[in-house]
Amino acid sequence: VATIELLTYRIIVEPGSLDRVGDLVREVAAAHRYALLTDERAGPLYAARVRESLGAESVVMHQIRSGESEKTRENWIALTDAMLADGLGRDTTVIALGGGVVGDLAGFVAATFMRGVPFVQVPTTLLAMVDASVGGKTGVDTPAGKNLVGAFHQPAVVVADTDVLRTLPPPHFRSGMAEAIKHGVIASVDYFDEVVTVARSMERWVGSALDLTPLVAGSVRIKAAVVADDEREAGRRKILNFGHTLGHAVESCSEYTLLHGQAIAIGMVLEAEIAERMSIASSGTANRIRDVLDLVGLPDRPPSWLDPDQILERTRTDKKARGGRVEYALPIRIGAMAGATSGWSIAVDDDVVRTVLHTAHAP
Ligand SMILES: NC(=O)c1ccc[n+]([C@@H]2O[C@H](COP(=O)([O-])OP(=O)(O)OC[C@H]3O[C@@H](n4cnc5c(N)ncnc54)[C@H](O)[C@@H]3O)[C@@H](O)[C@H]2O)c1
Ligand SMILES: [Zn+2]
Repeated sequence: VATIELLTYRIIVEPGSLDRVGDLVREVAAAHRYALLTDERAGPLYAARVRESLGAESVVMHQIRSGESEKTRENWIALTDAMLADGLGRDTTVIALGGGVVGDLAGFVAATFMRGVPFVQVPTTLLAMVDASVGGKTGVDTPAGKNLVGAFHQPAVVVADTDVLRTLPPPHFRSGMAEAIKHGVIASVDYFDEVVTVARSMERWVGSALDLTPLVAGSVRIKAAVVADDEREAGRRKILNFGHTLGHAVESCSEYTLLHGQAIAIGMVLEAEIAERMSIASSGTANRIRDVLDLVGLPDRPPSWLDPDQILERTRTDKKARGGRVEYALPIRIGAMAGATSGWSIAVDDDVVRTVLHTAHAP
């Protein structure tokens, strides 16, 4: 059991805590009515317990379909319209029960409904527990790209019941592990080693009765510490983008056939290679990342059907370029990031990126 108190809100990581959601919410975000927003997978499995703990008569529930393609403005319209039809007013707390898709979408609903109502995250995927539910970024995708319309809206409390990870399909479990690995690389070699230990017993962890609370709590501590002083990503929070500049490009070029964590796994290796080539990272950094990805069952290079030059091209649309060069968050070694004196991001020449992409492409 862990309670992380580094931010303006508490993050509870505790097996069985679904049944305590009501008590925890009433402490910080008591409301006349609760809008419980979930999706078609998490809802049938877990909504009844959350509803019960909140007091069923004060809850209205709405369920979206499952998947990234549901994180849309259309669903924002559908949910806000449904809440208005329910007669909900300002005295409403929105509760997101699900993975990062539900969390981001419901958070954006909460940020905008009646100009903003309190919001509670009840993450049910590993990715949402270790990453998406913490930090207050909410939003939706548009045809032009991911997360392009949104708002910062901090939750009132985050309740992560690690027991629910037992029903998570293995590919989504692996995807979440990518972000845990990232947290080790950017902030703590000790945590990185903990993740390696978990990864060594992956077969036992997936769907098993073993408790993932320490793994989740360790990641949350790192993410919370990073965002604590930099809620709006003016500086150090940029290190959380490690693996994401090329990762997002790979994800987008794959037309989202790769899961986010798979794309980020690939992005981390490529960006560590860039850092080594620029003599920013000590040699062997990329290989240590590769080794743990292999244990987890995540890819460590772009699929061969992706064109390296198209990936490079796509990095230009994902991130702001400075003087024609795209900015990266790069490691010095496992547990430490470069750029303390340059705003935590480093401009990289296209030539370096191209070389790394083409080297990874060749078998
Ligand atoms: N706001 C942030 O800071 C932030 C950070 C990282 C990622 N994200 C966003 O998170 C999203 C990805 O989140 P995700 O990986 O959780 O995807 P997701 O929400 O689509 O969940 C993955 C799948 O697992 C299902 N599911 C959820 N909980 C389950 C459970 N306990 N048992 C069985 N199935 C379950 C879902 O229905 C879905 O099919 C992306 O949209 C990404 O942009 C946001
Ligand atoms: Zn990510």
